[in-house]
Parts: sequence; structure tokens; C-alpha cells
Amino acid sequence: MKIGVIGTGYVGLVTGACFADLGHTVVCVDNNKEKIAALRSGKIPFYEPGLEGLVTANSRQGRLLFSTSIAECVKTCEVIFIAVGTPPLPSGDADLSAIEHVCVEIATHMRSYRLIVEKSTVPVNTGEWVARTLQKHVRKGVQYDVASNPEFLREGSAIQDAEHPDRIILGVSSDRAAMLLVKLYEPLNAPLLITDIRSAELIKHTANAFLALKISFINAVARVCELTGADVTKVAKGIGMDRRIGEAFLSAGIGYGGSCFPKDVSAYVKLCEKVGYDFNLLKEVMRINTAQRTAFFDKVKKALGTLSGKKIAVLGLAFKPDTDDMRGAVSLEIISLLRKERARIFAYDPVAGENAAPLLPHVTICPDALSALRGADAALIITEWKEFRNLDLPAVKQVMKRPIIIDGRNIYDPAKMAEMGFQYWGVGRPRSESARR
Ligand SMILES: NC(=O)c1ccc[n+]([C@@H]2O[C@H](COP(=O)([O-])OP(=O)(O)OC[C@H]3O[C@@H](n4cnc5c(N)ncnc54)[C@H](O)[C@@H]3O)[C@@H](O)[C@H]2O)c1
Repeated sequence: MKIGVIGTGYVGLVTGACFADLGHTVVCVDNNKEKIAALRSGKIPFYEPGLEGLVTANSRQGRLLFSTSIAECVKTCEVIFIAVGTPPLPSGDADLSAIEHVCVEIATHMRSYRLIVEKSTVPVNTGEWVARTLQKHVRKGVQYDVASNPEFLREGSAIQDAEHPDRIILGVSSDRAAMLLVKLYEPLNAPLLITDIRSAELIKHTANAFLALKISFINAVARVCELTGADVTKVAKGIGMDRRIGEAFLSAGIGYGGSCFPKDVSAYVKLCEKVGYDFNLLKEVMRINTAQRTAFFDKVKKALGTLSGKKIAVLGLAFKPDTDDMRGAVSLEIISLLRKERARIFAYDPVAGENAAPLLPHVTICPDALSALRGADAALIITEWKEFRNLDLPAVKQVMKRPIIIDGRNIYDPAKMAEMGFQYWGVGRPRSESARR
């Protein structure tokens, strides 16, 4: 099949490369000329394990093409995926302007049947609005369908997630659209759920809202643990062993960030307000998430007293491990709080340093963890990169001015840390005896 993917970001490029790898011919379009020029010369615009090899191999085979022209894509591709960004507006609603722009262009250039598929995350009922937008600009007599095929990949394991999805959701309003999408995904041999468009749209928002809810739930439990002396990692393990609950997304920490959960939860709340339901539960999810940042910052102050002039090592800047994506990264919020108290910040991230530097002009970005830790009054673990789990802790202790570690991701064992002479603060875990002394 010939497929168009508009928007070559984290979702569009991975989707395009994976479809090409299945044997389809894919035209990936973006209005960012530098991005397309870079992709044509084999450069991947962001860090995603395994993506470079997939893009290079399929480009060489002539199955993966890059273009800045929606017209060219619409001319040759029967199925067109829209994977542009839907960032939050200041109101919390999703900004659908890029989708609108793309729809107008697609409609203007359609000359025969096309299937337009929403891959971007959008509020329920966007499909109807997309169809109306297309209708306003399409030539008389040209047929088309709109479908929703939400994406569930996670940055950092995007290829694995796209090639081996838990499920594929197809929201359609015609048999023709259903048949095209089923054929397209057939080689993946993954569980398929065919629904109406509205339900498909709501599945995506609801899945992200539920995952955010799990995170905030365990973070609230972590606060109870801190007040009672229980250990949240044990509580999470104990409840996660119940198959009705499941162990995933029960890691207490400094809360979720990134370009998806915060915006999708707030867009969901906004959508509910519009249709007449006050989804207070989700508002509480957001409130707990914000409170985790403050609670973490309070620990830093408690451990160090005044922060002015203190040297703080920040380990991890990306919003999660295995990505260089700084959108919605918790590190930005924590560093902003530290800066307000005039702390001196030395940060290290295995891959996000380059993306972070322009966002953090007053932070020294270090080439490795030990450089950031040298002479530090405290180290903060912000992103749970594997590299930090495997740090040479005796060397860490030796280079730090004071052996204080405030771990926002619970990556170390408190007892072992105390044994090694660290003053160690986790999330929702009792501080060990020697640390209290
Ligand atoms: N990043 C994720 O992990 C993830 C996972 C699932 C779903 N999503 C959803 O997928 C969508 C895309 O997310 P992303 O992270 O890939 O975003 P992104 O910002 O990385 O990529 C979007 C791309 O669209 C391009 N673009 C914007 N306007 C355009 C236009 N008019 N014409 C052509 N190209 C245009 C941008 O230049 C950019 O390259 C969002 O709705 C997001 O919520 C993201």
C-alpha cells in the first residue's frame, strides 16, 4: 500500500518507518524543511533507540520517502495519517490548529478517494470536525473517509511498541475504511479493536488519564507511607501482585511529565467541562502530580537548609529515560525552584544535555555524572536512567562535598545507601537509622 504520514516527529517518523518495514511505501511529510533535509541525508532529528537503523534501511530500499509537500503525498497515497502535534493551549484545551491546517491542504489536493486517519491524540468528536473541515475544501464529488487510529507507543521503546502493540484501535465509519486499515496492519498480527470514531478517540484519552491516575494514586500512597513509616515500594509490590490491579505504573516518584500525560489529562478535563461533566477525579490527579514536585523540593530544603550558593548536582534532565525529549520534563520545574533559591546547578543527562542547554541557560551541563557530582552539596535523581542505577557509588561519595542523595525515582536501596554512609532520601520510604543520625 502507499501511505502518507504528515508530521515526522516522535510518532510520525516511527509510524512511517515501521509501516515501511512492513513492506508498504511511505511518504513522510513535515513542514519543517531542515528536518526533512536532515532525514533525506540519513540524520534522525531526535534520539530513539533503533530508529536510525530502521529509517536508513527502509530509505535505502526506496520504501521510505521524505517530503515537505502535502500535495505530493495526497497525489500518490490512498491512506494518509495525520501525526502532527496537538500541544496544550493556555486554557488546557488541545491546540488543533496544525490538524486544521493539514486537513485544508489535504482536501484542496484530493482528486479521488482518500482515507484520512487521525493518529495524533485528539479530544473526542474531533473526527466529525475533521470531516466538516475536509468537506468545506474538497472538490465536489471526491469521496473520502475519516478514521481514528490512536497511537500508544512510548518514547524510548517506540519501535518495539509500534511493531508489537498490545492492541490496535481502529475507529471507523465505513467498511471501506475498516478494510483498508485492517489490511495495512494485518502483517503485525496484533489484537484489533474496531469501534466508532468517537470511542476510538476517547480510548486514547482515557488510557492516558488512567495511567496518570495510577501514578498519582501511588504518589498519594507514598505520602501516607512517609507519614506512617511504611515503604511504598513494598506496598506497590503487594498490591501489584493482584492481577486485577497489575504492577505497571505503580512507581512512586516526583510525578509524570512529558508531552503527553499532562496535556492529555488537562484536555480531557476541558472536554468534560464542555460536555457537562465535572471530572473532579482527574483534577485531583493533576493536583497530586504538582504536589509531588513541591514535596520533593521541600526534602531538598530540609536536607540542605538554605540553598543559596549551594552546589547541587542534578542527574537526569529528559522527561523519562531513553529519550532526549525535554517537553514537560520535571527537571525544568525542579531546577526553576532551585534557581529561585539561588542554588548553583550542575546537571548531567546521558542524551538530553544538548536539548536541555538552551532551556537552562544558568545551569552547567556536564559531560558525565561524576563531573556534575564533584564538590556537590547534594545530588538529585530526577530521571531514572539505567546509568544512574549502575553508578560507582564509592566514587560518587568520594567526589561529593557532602554525601546527600535525594532520589526522586527510588532507584537505590535506602539500607545499602545508609551502610555506605550516604544521607539518602527516597519517595515514600522510611529513612534508614544511620541516615537519621
Ligand atoms: N510522543 C509520544 O510519545 C506520543 C505517543 C502517542 C501519541 N502522541 C501524540 O502524537 C501527536 C504527535 O506527537 P509527537 O510527539 O510526534 O510530536 P512532535 O512535535 O515530535 O512532531 C510533530 C511534527 O509535526 C510537524 N508539523 C506541525 N505542523 C505541521 C504541518 N502543518 N504540516 C506538516 N507537518 C507539521 C512538526 O514539524 C513536527 O515535526 C500528538 O498529538 C501527541 O499527543 C505522542
